[in-house]
Amino acid sequence: MKRIGILTSGGDAPGMNAAIRAVTRTALYKGMEVVGIRRGYNGLLHGDTFEMNARSVSSIIQRGGTLLYTARCPEFKEEAGVLKGVEACHELGIEGLVVVGGDGSYRGAGDLSRHGIACVGLPGTIDNDISSTDFTIGYDTAMNTVMELVDKLRDTSHSHDRCSVVEVMGRGAGYIAVNTALACGAVEVLCPEKPYDLNAIIEKMQASRKLGKQNFIIVVAEGIGHSQEIAKEIEEKTGIESRATILGHVQRGGSPTVRDRVLASRMGNYAVNLLEQGIGNRVVGVRGDKLVDYDIQEALQMKKPFDDDLYDLTQVISI
Ligand code: ADP
Ligand code: F6P
Repeated sequence: MKRIGILTSGGDAPGMNAAIRAVTRTALYKGMEVVGIRRGYNGLLHGDTFEMNARSVSSIIQRGGTLLYTARCPEFKEEAGVLKGVEACHELGIEGLVVVGGDGSYRGAGDLSRHGIACVGLPGTIDNDISSTDFTIGYDTAMNTVMELVDKLRDTSHSHDRCSVVEVMGRGAGYIAVNTALACGAVEVLCPEKPYDLNAIIEKMQASRKLGKQNFIIVVAEGIGHSQEIAKEIEEKTGIESRATILGHVQRGGSPTVRDRVLASRMGNYAVNLLEQGIGNRVVGVRGDKLVDYDIQEALQMKKPFDDDLYDLTQVISI
């Protein structure tokens, strides 16, 4: 394979730039040409592409966001859009494509692969909700951002003897919520994978208050939502002043952690190695510390287990 493309798709994630850099530099090292495609599949369909060289990816490893921009492209969910994409790849002389994104982006990559464009997907999302990998690019940075922000909230919560209800991202998944709850010493974590009983939480808080606990952090996953209402109900039933904070998109930004930069660099390199051998219709993941790859359709069928032990630990040490 002599010429490949790269795009980022879906929600951005810190470390996407490190992946773009690794793909570009590995390909150039191997004598391949690289086409940068802007704004996900949109760039492919509407000719928003450019030739990349070693300097195109200078000084981006430390930056959040994505040099290639990202977008959602509804047109690509239709067969006509996919066929247009295949045509665009032929016109651009692209034989292989690296797609950095989530499950939706993987589906698009699978569709292109079906039509003979060798695609390799890299898991780029802060949510860690991709079953074919233990860790996604951006997840570690997002959790560290949440931890830093919740630590700040704790300062003010402590000063006022308050309860802080903090809503964190994760779409339908509670991975960010459970890990940051543990890391921030939250008294409770509400996530979609586990049923919860607000009255039981309130009783637990009242008991803890009697034992001298003055301030409380409750982490709520985005998939549960209703943080304002939860804070209001807690305040009404316990008399403990409560405030809700929805952290929002700050969680998607910032300079990637070492872990995300290294993971993204390794995965980017691995993707190009696959394409060099003419292997497509694959996604890259990490199991333990080992990089692996799977057939895209197989990967999309996988289920990711929820870490019950970690959740149980948040309950044990939060009294
Ligand atoms: P993520 O990749 O983060 O899961 P989305 O689900 O928004 O994000 O998908 C990103 C993009 O991938 C979509 O805007 C669309 O262009 C493409 N995509 C999503 N689902 C499909 C599908 N079923 N078939 C083809 N392309 C898809
Ligand atoms: O998938 C990443 C994510 O940040 C989710 O946690 C969140 O639900 C969603 O994207 C928000 O998407 P948007 O960028 O469209 O607001």
